Amino acid sequence: MTIGIGLLGLGTVGAGVAEILANPEGRHPLVAELALRRVAVRNLERPRAAPVAAELLTTQAEAVVDDPAVDIVVEVLGGLEPARSLILRAIAAGKPVVTANKAVIARHGEEIAAAAAAAGVYVLLEAAVGGGIPIIEPLKQSLGANRIERVSGIINGTTNYILSRMAAEGADYGAVLADAQRLGYAEADPAADVEGADAADKIAILTGLAYGGSVPRQAIPTEGIDRLDARDVAYADKLGYVVKLLAVAQRIDSEPDGDKASGDPDALLLDVRVHPTLLPRSHPLAGVNGVFNAILVEGDPVGQVMFYGPGAGAGPTASAVVADILNIAGIRQATLPAGPGGGPVGLDPLLAAGSWRRCRLIDGALTTHRNYVRLRTSDEAGVIGRIGTCFGEAGVSIQSIVQFEAHNEAAEIVVITHEVLEERFRQALDAIAALPEVQGVAACLRTL
Ligand code: HSE
Repeated sequence: MTIGIGLLGLGTVGAGVAEILANPEGRHPLVAELALRRVAVRNLERPRAAPVAAELLTTQAEAVVDDPAVDIVVEVLGGLEPARSLILRAIAAGKPVVTANKAVIARHGEEIAAAAAAAGVYVLLEAAVGGGIPIIEPLKQSLGANRIERVSGIINGTTNYILSRMAAEGADYGAVLADAQRLGYAEADPAADVEGADAADKIAILTGLAYGGSVPRQAIPTEGIDRLDARDVAYADKLGYVVKLLAVAQRIDSEPDGDKASGDPDALLLDVRVHPTLLPRSHPLAGVNGVFNAILVEGDPVGQVMFYGPGAGAGPTASAVVADILNIAGIRQATLPAGPGGGPVGLDPLLAAGSWRRCRLIDGALTTHRNYVRLRTSDEAGVIGRIGTCFGEAGVSIQSIVQFEAHNEAAEIVVITHEVLEERFRQALDAIAALPEVQGVAACLRTL
């Protein structure tokens, strides 16, 4: 039986979806049962390569959702509105939704899940994180029995492309970004990618699935690669590390004393963040280069599981969107005979708002990390000793300290610390910055 698809958006991902639906040969037999019924676009006049009959196009997105011939609504518009309202409208009409919209899910996921639970419809979002990499359904289903310790990922292809080229060529951030834009790997407005917001949206979604509860998207500490200096990439290389924009969500088991008073003591304590990070070359994510994405999930009892593949682009993202459509279509076909009029197809149990647990973010000062710090100093006797004393007095243990350049009476000293409480590290940095021989703290990066 044919299943009607309403497509909201015919940009890169929408065109990729239309392409798959128009070419079912050799794919799962259910693909041939999917019929594109209406497609919402912003501009009817724009020339399009996508295989979509002109009469299916409309600028009335609500009419696509409301069309009785549309059984499943596919939202690939991007942005917050009207995407959020259209998703809620489809849910209210009892229509399952497939979305690739990380921004909406990261900010309104609970509202959407609650509405889906009330209406008894599926909302699937495999394409929202990692493009063609299956990570959402594995976290929800295949890894569901695990106690997830940590999810860490390279989940932005644009920044990984830029960082890979900076490392390979010793090139400056600005020059590589300009080249990436010329080649079409980076958007004309790259802010969401290079400032880390795109990765923060994605780790917010992964956090919700891995830990069964959401954290406020705006509270996730986020640092991009836009201020990264090529010399830190080069020094990291000399010390045996690669620099990656890492998004991390980690369970904190032993609650630091200072955090006990804050808010909700029964909520699961999480450390969720996005920042450039030094990874030892032996780390499983260190070899992920170019536009590729990878997500490392560490759970008990499964251990480490890594997901790797193309994190963006029309084909890979459409692959994830159509897989979600097929999941819903398959369930729908299996349940139709039992349901009067083919009504609601049932609720994805792990999206039921009632099953979510309370989570809260740890105070950043109480997190523990290893750190890389580059100091500009004068080149004179005793400087390294005085820097070491500042670290020691703050209780910060140094793993390595190296002087990289010494000319014109100036030196660059790079320190890598052992794991240390953030507030102690900051205390040491304040003392170091106040030393007369230290001209400045030139860079400070987290290290795994
Ligand atoms: N702009 C994203 C990236 C792809 O560069 O990975 C869409 O999420």
